[in-house]
Amino acid sequence: MLNGKARAYTNIALIKYWGKEDPELILPKNNSLSLTLDGFFTETEVLFSKNFTQDVFYLDGMEQSRNATKKVSTFLDLVRKRANCPFFAVIHSHNHVPTAAGLASSASGLAALAGACNQALALNLSPKELSQLARRGSGSACRSIFGGFVEWERGHSDATSYAVPIDAQGWEKELAMVFVLINDQPKDISSREGMQRTVETSAFYPQWVEEAQTDLQLAKAAIQAHDFQKLGIAMEANGLKMHATTLAATPPFTYWSPDSLRAMTIVRTLRQEGIPCYFTMDAGPNVKILCQKKNVQAIQAALAASFAEKQIIAAYPGPGIQFVETEVTK
Ligand code: ADP
Ligand code: DP6
Repeated sequence: MLNGKARAYTNIALIKYWGKEDPELILPKNNSLSLTLDGFFTETEVLFSKNFTQDVFYLDGMEQSRNATKKVSTFLDLVRKRANCPFFAVIHSHNHVPTAAGLASSASGLAALAGACNQALALNLSPKELSQLARRGSGSACRSIFGGFVEWERGHSDATSYAVPIDAQGWEKELAMVFVLINDQPKDISSREGMQRTVETSAFYPQWVEEAQTDLQLAKAAIQAHDFQKLGIAMEANGLKMHATTLAATPPFTYWSPDSLRAMTIVRTLRQEGIPCYFTMDAGPNVKILCQKKNVQAIQAALAASFAEKQIIAAYPGPGIQFVETEVTK
């Protein structure tokens, strides 16, 4: 039986990937840096068989439309070519993260799929090669192959664009990320579409690429020095710059909602009160707050005055991809 199963955790970028140099190979315009988290993950099982007549994709138990299966099938085509395997596949995936809501389901989803394929077709890829492969499914997925802090080196070709773990000497274990779930429904403008529109039309975009390089150096230096405030300042500034590019796009758009602004105000007030914490946002209205583990409760309590308990979720640094035994491989 050609089957495999893997679990991959989501990652949230502290320094964002926002724009492609090469949309087909998914080579980014700039390096990005993320933190893999334990709170949200995807588990995917894939089975290739000569008896299947098309790819069938079940997400959370529901068979997906042909359209929703396209992204998965395009990725499987790459894998089939690499493994010299002509068979279609059935995929069962479970997202322990809201899908397409700006909480990085594409990162955990495509990393888990890449891992499951690696196992099913005995590709025996190294972590670096697996990161390269996952990148072809979704850029941010290349970072979910590794745990903790991770940098995606943009590279200039398929072979040179992949993620690498950043050794923070265990410092990441002192950190946490508090999620403010403002909307867990699929967004109107996907990350892919949003970044493409921004690259093509935003007057601010060239400046973004330059700023991202500086922010990355600041963030990496802060990680090496275990300097939480410096890391938070670089992260928050970088996220704001990314979102600024969307306002100057044609047509303009934003992922922010009034509740996102409320959460940002709470973060700023907490800082004034002496609790260091910093926000970032991705392609959706949800706000993620980077903080020290010791302050999680105080931050949750401050948020509870404005948001329901179920909207506030604390996550901690998580591991890299894991291969799961299936009924057949056991
Ligand atoms: P998000 O913020 O959740 O990453 P994106 O718009 O970037 O949102 O990506 C969402 C897309 O990622 C989905 O529409 C789907 O194509 C893909 N995706 C999400 N979860 C999975 C999964 N478990 N397996 C395969 N693809 C997935
Ligand atoms: C805002 O990795 O979902 O979350 O490569 O087109 O699949 P594709 O995009 P995706 O974009 C993530 C964008 C982001 C920032 C980040 O995670 O770095």
